[in-house]
Amino acid sequence: MTRYEDCVRVLRDHERFARDWRRLGLDIPESSLSVQSLDPPAQAPLRSLFMNSLRAQDLDGIGSRTRSTVDELFGLLSERSEFDVLVDVAAPLSLYVISELLGVEQPDFRAFAVVSDAITRSMDAGLVPETIEPGRRARQELSAMVEAWFQASGKPGLLADVVRHKDRAGVPDIYVRNTTRVMFQGGYSTVVAGIGNVVSTLLRHPWVLDQLRDESLLQTGIDELIRFDGPVQGTSRMATQSTTIGGVPIERGQTVLTLFAAANHDPEQFPWPNEIVLDRAPNQHLGFGWGPHSCIGTVVAQITLRELVSVLASWPQSLRQARPARRRTTATMRSLEELPVTFGA
Ligand code: HEM
Repeated sequence: MTRYEDCVRVLRDHERFARDWRRLGLDIPESSLSVQSLDPPAQAPLRSLFMNSLRAQDLDGIGSRTRSTVDELFGLLSERSEFDVLVDVAAPLSLYVISELLGVEQPDFRAFAVVSDAITRSMDAGLVPETIEPGRRARQELSAMVEAWFQASGKPGLLADVVRHKDRAGVPDIYVRNTTRVMFQGGYSTVVAGIGNVVSTLLRHPWVLDQLRDESLLQTGIDELIRFDGPVQGTSRMATQSTTIGGVPIERGQTVLTLFAAANHDPEQFPWPNEIVLDRAPNQHLGFGWGPHSCIGTVVAQITLRELVSVLASWPQSLRQARPARRRTTATMRSLEELPVTFGA
């Protein structure tokens, strides 16, 4: 599906379009059952548990600490003749924010980047089957990390809150652990890719950063930058019954791909789809998904990007691209591998 209207129809209709492949008779190991792979109604208490715990966090505090972290990073990087946005800004910043939100010890970011990379690449398993095995091993490594967090006496944060409320929510422990894995690695990898895409857009369209010096445009501006070039390119569902969408017959058991990036540039939904309109309204883009599986971390992603862009807009030196960027060869996640820049005079 590439049209906005068709994508929304699929994503909101969880009766007819399943994320839980077991509804079509397929086997899913317990170790993979999480908020992402269960459907309503079984998914609802798990999703509410994590969403409520996220809302209970001091998000303003996380925002101001994120800002200080960006300030500190830029201070150090402005002394270097060149640095890479992905490795030197996006990865450490994203790891900081997710660890802070969950209330867990920050893992070594170079080691974690390797685990995250294998899991991200395995999202393309349908296209590149050889990513399956490294992805499985990386998930095992991540599960061991998550287990250690559950054993450690909880620092305050989302995880401690989830542990406090999980029994009352009646959610099995294994689903809680698996969902923690999805939150940590899913949140980390999309924020890294999102930062790379946003900074790259700002470098290619310098007037955008000039306009974003007006703080009143930041909120809508960040959403527009995600619509314009967001990191998650699409998702899939499986038809539970035969149906028709946009005149195309779909048989029970067929996989439907909803392509967020295409839908976000659908001229029937977004006038001037290939222009950046910082105060675009309405802007109900699909960059954070739609329906019962939409992104749980949207607000945290928005805060992180907002603080980053706001510091960049007020930084005394301007950021310039030092050399051509290089793309990652991933399909589900649209991301740069390398974006060499400098704080030139
Ligand atoms: C720029 C950053 C981000 C983008 C673009 C993004 C995008 C998305 C999208 C498109 C989905 C829906 C996928 C689907 O329907 O299959 C999703 C789901 C999800 N996201 Fe994000 N995300 C971001 C950051 C985060 C962060 C920071 C967290 C955690 C703190 C997070 C946690 C999740 C979770 C747990 C789900 C699964 C929800 C469910 O299936 O019920 N995301 N995200």
